[in-house]
Amino acid sequence: MNPKSSLLDFNTFGIDVSCRSIIELTNLDVLEDYLANSPSRFLILGGGSNILFKSDYDGDILLNKTCGIEISNENEDSVEIKVASGENWHDFVKWTVDRDYAGIENLALIPGSVGAAPIQNIGAYGVEIKDVLQTVEYFDLNEKCLKILRNEDCGFGYRNSVFKNELKGQVFIVSISIKLSKNHSPKLEYWALKHFLEEHSISNPSIKDVFNAVVAIRQSKLPDPAKLGNSGSFFKNPLLTGEEFDVVQEKFPAIRFFETDDHQFKIAAGWLIEQCGWKGKVVGKTGSHKDQALVLVNYGGATGEEVWNLAQAIIASVQEQFGIRLEPEVNIL
Ligand code: EPU
Repeated sequence: MNPKSSLLDFNTFGIDVSCRSIIELTNLDVLEDYLANSPSRFLILGGGSNILFKSDYDGDILLNKTCGIEISNENEDSVEIKVASGENWHDFVKWTVDRDYAGIENLALIPGSVGAAPIQNIGAYGVEIKDVLQTVEYFDLNEKCLKILRNEDCGFGYRNSVFKNELKGQVFIVSISIKLSKNHSPKLEYWALKHFLEEHSISNPSIKDVFNAVVAIRQSKLPDPAKLGNSGSFFKNPLLTGEEFDVVQEKFPAIRFFETDDHQFKIAAGWLIEQCGWKGKVVGKTGSHKDQALVLVNYGGATGEEVWNLAQAIIASVQEQFGIRLEPEVNIL
């Protein structure tokens, strides 16, 4: 029997759990071979940046190591790029910014792999991957064949997609294709971004300016997982209907929120958590980050169970004080 493999270096929370074995998927053939040899339980992992392991994983971890970026179509105005799922997301964003292709510069510095991007429809500073995504190519783990899904069939929502629902655990995302523009029209609606550019007297920002601004804003309040274990926002920002929101706002007029295009109200979970006194609080080896309450951190040596206990305590106090139920954004295993 093989000795168990440690997952410490493969989850950004830095939780020291083990699995049966770690297999590197450098291409699709490795996956097909693995599946042909009647595997038991397995989990496909990209950057491990959106997962909390509560205990050892009783199965194999398939690490996505596929790579490749190619321009599949191009004209005067736009470019279509096909990128392998194992590529690092931020490095890919940088690749596009270096070539002056516009569309994902607001999504700089999001940890994780390209393949994970459509699963949770990554988003930041007013842009989501669904805004530029054309297709997702995936390997159907049941039918053992390649399939392609168009954007409109991906069921995209706020941090949500078909890959978290109907297709959960049934696909290996092979590549995504996105369409970027050669004519830059920056998306600067997000307050923090607009404010940063104004403060730095940048009135007509280039793609690189927006990219640099997003990097600076993120670095100023989000802890670097290489230094302090975390998985970014631990919870989703809760969505309330107009009626639900009116009730809450009447009681808490200072509540931070944002009205969505479909007239729902997205509440700043970081604000709710801060109001309950959790911001910067250290609980054993875990805590809520001092600069962004929505980020739970591992100060070193925390177990997944400890982080999860903290998360549950936060959920309970936000529920008690505001009557709003927080839901994890991170996958809990
Ligand atoms: N706020 C507080 N206290 C805090 C944190 C935030 O009062 O401790 C308030 C801020 O003052 C602000 C509002 O909450 O008015 C929004 O805060 P912020 O701009 O930091 O964004 P967020 O809603 O907390 C979301 C995403 C982030 C993304 C940013 C920027 C979710 C769950 N999180 O955070 O995504 O980077 O917007 O677009 O939607 C991630 O998914 O891991 C992630 C980091």
